[in-house]
Amino acid sequence: MALKDRLRGIFRPFLLIWLSIQLHYAALKEALRKDGLASLTHPHRIRDAAKAKLLIITSDGFIAFENTTVVPSLVRAAHGTILELGPGPGNQIHRYDASRVDFVYAVDPNPHYGAAIAAKLEKLDRQDKYKFLVCGVEDSEILRREGVTEGSMDTVLSIQVLCAVGDVKSVMREVWKLLRPGGSFVFWEHERSRDAATAVAQVCWNPAWSALVGCCLHRDIKADILAAGEWENPGDIVVDDEPYSCLPRIWGVLKKKA
Ligand SMILES: C[S@@+](CC[C@H](N)C(=O)[O-])C[C@H]1O[C@@H](n2cnc3c(N)ncnc32)[C@H](O)[C@@H]1O
Ligand SMILES: *[C@@H]1O[C@H](CO)[C@@H](O)[C@H](O)[C@H]1NC(C)=O
Repeated sequence: MALKDRLRGIFRPFLLIWLSIQLHYAALKEALRKDGLASLTHPHRIRDAAKAKLLIITSDGFIAFENTTVVPSLVRAAHGTILELGPGPGNQIHRYDASRVDFVYAVDPNPHYGAAIAAKLEKLDRQDKYKFLVCGVEDSEILRREGVTEGSMDTVLSIQVLCAVGDVKSVMREVWKLLRPGGSFVFWEHERSRDAATAVAQVCWNPAWSALVGCCLHRDIKADILAAGEWENPGDIVVDDEPYSCLPRIWGVLKKKA
């Protein structure tokens, strides 16, 4: 049984990688049809389109899976003025406790999520409490223009995003600065496995996974969160004990030291 679990854990990433290969091929054909060979000079546009499609078509599956985890209760802890990192197709929008939310600024550098997010906001009638900005957390100029400045956020929410950003350390320092003293960093991420064999599998999968699915499998997320600045409750980070999973989870609600 343990061997079967181990093999299942090791080979599971292939499913998403294979789906992503098909979507990249489809996005490439579409770009060639629309813009001809000129589209090949902007490969990142083709990749953005394919990665967005991947998250959009797997959205319901992820929502159903996250329903079985701590994610819904974590998102309900978000309150006040909120910065949501990397919303993707907006899988968390329906989970906010509307009575505790003043406003959500959602930042994602991939421009292909606008329609999916707008459709969800309209369905829940939350259009005037949620703004999608096409930029990264690092783009402080754009954030500042929107009023997202140092010490201004009650909550920063990060659900599976630190695996996808360029540099976790600098993103986390930025997050810490944007929080007000006493503000909460609410996160659910995945990181490097503590199981030696699974950690090797993560390293082997990572080149294909990061190129096609768009995130890194073997980061030490916990260390980078802790190094961002002083937290009131660093001991409250939970690391899930899932030795056979290539996506072992880590989560928590950390308060910025006042
Ligand atoms: C795996 S998806 C997470 C989607 C969503 N948070 C959810 O709960 O389903 C990671 C997202 O992070 C976004 N991302 C990558 N780099 C980013 C950055 N520097 N700032 C903000 N978002 C970023 C990606 O475009 C992608 O949409
Ligand atoms: C997830 O849970 C919410 C709240 O219980 C429910 O409304 C929603 O239909 C569920 N979504 C899926 C895809 O299971």
